[in-house]
Formats: sequence, structure tokens, C-alpha cells
Amino acid sequence: MSKFVINGGNKLFGEVTVQSAKNSLLPLISACILIDGKVTFLNCNKLNDVCVMLDIIKALGGSYSWNGSSLTVDCSSLTSYELPKELTSKIRASIFCLGPLLGRFHKALFFKSGGCDIGERPIDLHINGLTKLGAEFSLGDVIYSRVDEVIGSEITLPFKSVGATENIMMLASVCKGKTVIKNCAKEPEISNLAELLRRAGGEIYGAGTDVIEVYGVPKLKSNDIVFTPVPDRIETGTYLLSTLSTGGEVTIKNCIFSHNVALIKKIYNNACKISINNDKIYIKSMGVGNSLGFVKTAPYPGYPTDLQTPLVAYASTLNGMTIVHEGVFSSRFNQIAELKKMGADLTVVKNRVVIEGVRTLYGATVTALDLRGGAGMVIAGLKAHGQTVINNAEIIDRGYYDLEGKLRSLGADVTRIHDEI
Ligand code: EPZ
Repeated sequence: MSKFVINGGNKLFGEVTVQSAKNSLLPLISACILIDGKVTFLNCNKLNDVCVMLDIIKALGGSYSWNGSSLTVDCSSLTSYELPKELTSKIRASIFCLGPLLGRFHKALFFKSGGCDIGERPIDLHINGLTKLGAEFSLGDVIYSRVDEVIGSEITLPFKSVGATENIMMLASVCKGKTVIKNCAKEPEISNLAELLRRAGGEIYGAGTDVIEVYGVPKLKSNDIVFTPVPDRIETGTYLLSTLSTGGEVTIKNCIFSHNVALIKKIYNNACKISINNDKIYIKSMGVGNSLGFVKTAPYPGYPTDLQTPLVAYASTLNGMTIVHEGVFSSRFNQIAELKKMGADLTVVKNRVVIEGVRTLYGATVTALDLRGGAGMVIAGLKAHGQTVINNAEIIDRGYYDLEGKLRSLGADVTRIHDEI
């Protein structure tokens, strides 16, 4: 186990480069199950969740190798359709292997996937969508699925589920006939996944809109595809909010402005200067901002749920009251109690948190309870008066590579302490 020790109060200054998106790389790696040949992904980091997904690929009989920040995955010699329990229990993204395994083997065996404790994590939309494509399921602790023939269908999702959209799109890419996915999620990571499937011979149209059309092909293949995952818009947002929270001035490199419009619209002209130059976002704090009013998290292009706790941490010392409504997950406020230990004035009412801005936060010993909650604690610690110790720092490593190193390079006083074994 390890913890972050942060001595707050340092303003962040300088430049930081964003990694490839965790939430893009995870489905991209699972898509390799469908692709006969090698795929090389550029600008990748050994995020904990990425390493678990690669262990799953290896357990299925595939292989992978790293060359600096380039990751090559080869699933041409896959032998198994059984997802190992000890791995699937670690990450929610293991569910993304379901569609590809059905497309590859017409069978899949898996256990309930894991993931951050951010409320209910059902898989009914995945099951219902794949069933529409011909899959049958025996549901229990062990979930077994099979499909005789994968036939295209029309599927309307009751909610814009990112994972269900990705799972259905992957299986549909090797279906017989046409599949139409309506009310699908539109996150940039979905367009990125569709681009990889197209590069492997898939025929997919409309990714990034409310309707995706897929014309199935017999097989996806790779002539040594080299592919760049999209930059991590959640990491970008984390640095934008960290800079404002510390009163700093930072240039964030390797980001796509249009992927962060929902956040930038909330903070723009609120005691900060922001300018865009190609793949760089420059932000400079101009003092303490005013309340953000009402913010509701929603599927893309709405305000991202993964930046909800980081926003709560940032808003905790603004002038006035901010209300944040969690519109995606059933309960994503488990980090609130830890923020209150630092002096934040927060009140949870059903799926909303009311934030009364206070003059300052105070360092305390707290715990990161989920990945993005942990990022919120780091933001709070960076601006707090005094020292903050954040236990369970590993959970933050699931989605941020060397966060403490990147923050130190911007002038933060943060170190990682490994607990004695
Ligand atoms: C993806 O999770 C991301 N994870 C999450 O990021 C992100 O918060 C989420 O999308 C929303 O943007 C990855 O991409 C690996 P959903 P996913 O299916 O696909 C309900 C992070 O911190 N739902 O869009 O699991 C669900 O309960 C992680 O990086 C069902 O009811 O999210 C939730 O309320 C956290 N039935 C809502 O839909 C289902 O079958 C959105 O879930 C599936 C989902």
C-alpha cells in the first residue's frame, strides 16, 4: 500500500503532457480479441487498469509487449474464452471483453466485473444488447454466454451507456448483416474505438452521434496497425482544476479542446484566463472564482461524471454556493465525508451535493475511496493549508500514471510513501 503526502499551498506552474485515455485504451485492447494480427498503440502508460487488461489478454492466450510508451498487442493465437475471476474482479472494463469473445469464439465465460465503488454497476444493458444480436446467457455468479450465429439487429439503449455501446459495437462489427444502435453514448473514446475497428476492416458509421450503423464483416484483421488512442480528457480536466485550485498558471499539452468544452464552459471567465493553441490548453488563475451555480453530470457532451469529485474539491473554496447533481451514477458521493474532514462545507441531498464555499481547507489524514474521488482529494490537498496524507494512493494509479511526479514537476510538494510491508 502507499500514500500521498502533500504540503499544500504551492501554486502550480509550468507544462504538463497528458497521457492516452485510460477509458479509450481499455476497450481498444479488448477489441484486439477480434483482430487477427498485431496492433501497436502509441503514447501509452502502464496504468494499473491497463496492466490488468493486458493480464486478461495473456490469460486468454494472447501476448503483448512494451517498447517505451508503445504497446503492441497480438491476439492472433488466442486459445480461451474464459475470463479469469481474479482479474475480472479487479476492473469494470473486463466486461468489454464479452462482445469480442462472442465474436471470436461464439462463447464467453466470465464473472461479475469489478471497478470503483461508485454505486450500482449493473450489466443489463450489455446483456440485453448482445442478446438482440443472438447471444444467450446463463446468469449467476459465473456467467456463460454462447451464440450460434451473430445476426445484425436494431438496438435502442434506454441510457447512453458507454460500455454497452462499445460492447454491442464490437460484436456487431463481425455480425451477419446490419446493426443499428440508437441512443448510443457519444464519448470520444467510442469514436476512437470505431476508428480502430474500421482500420481492421470493420464498417462502422455514426460513432460520436446518437445512432451508430454497423455493417458486419466476416473477420477483422490487422496488417500491423499502428494506432494512437485519444488523449485523456479526464486527466486534462484534473490539471485544469488543480491549476485553478492552487492559483497557478499551467500549459497542458497533448489535449483536445473540444473534448473538454463542458468543463471549460463552467470555469471560463471565472477568475481565470484560458487560451487554446492546437493541442495545448493554457490556463492562468486570476484569483478566487465565484460559485459555479448548478452543475449536472451527464453523458458526453455533458459535464463528465469522472470530473464530479474533482469539481467538488475545486468549488469547495469558491465564493458562494455551488450545487452539483450526479446524473450518471446512483451514488458517487462516497468521497464527500473525506473532503469534510478538510473543512469543506458539503451537504448531500439525494443525488446532489450542496457546496458552501469556505475561505480555506486544512490538511488532514484522508483516504481515496475510488479513482476519481482520489483525484479530488489530491486537488483538495494541493490547496489546503498544511499537510494532507491520502491513504490508498494505489486506487489513483488506476487512472493516473505518475501523478505525483507530474505534479512535482509543476511545483507541488507531493511525495509517495510506501507502507512498510
Ligand atoms: C465508463 O464506465 C467509464 N469506464 C467510467 O469511468 C465512466 O464514469 C462511465 O463510462 C460514464 O462516462 C470505462 O470506460 C472503463 P456506463 P461504464 O455504462 O461503461 C448504468 C473512471 O473513473 N448502467 O456509461 O461502466 C450505470 O450503472 C470510470 O474512469 C446500467 O444501468 O459506464 C451508470 O449509472 C468510472 N446497466 C450509467 O448506466 C448497464 O448494463 C452509466 O454507466 C450499464 C450501465
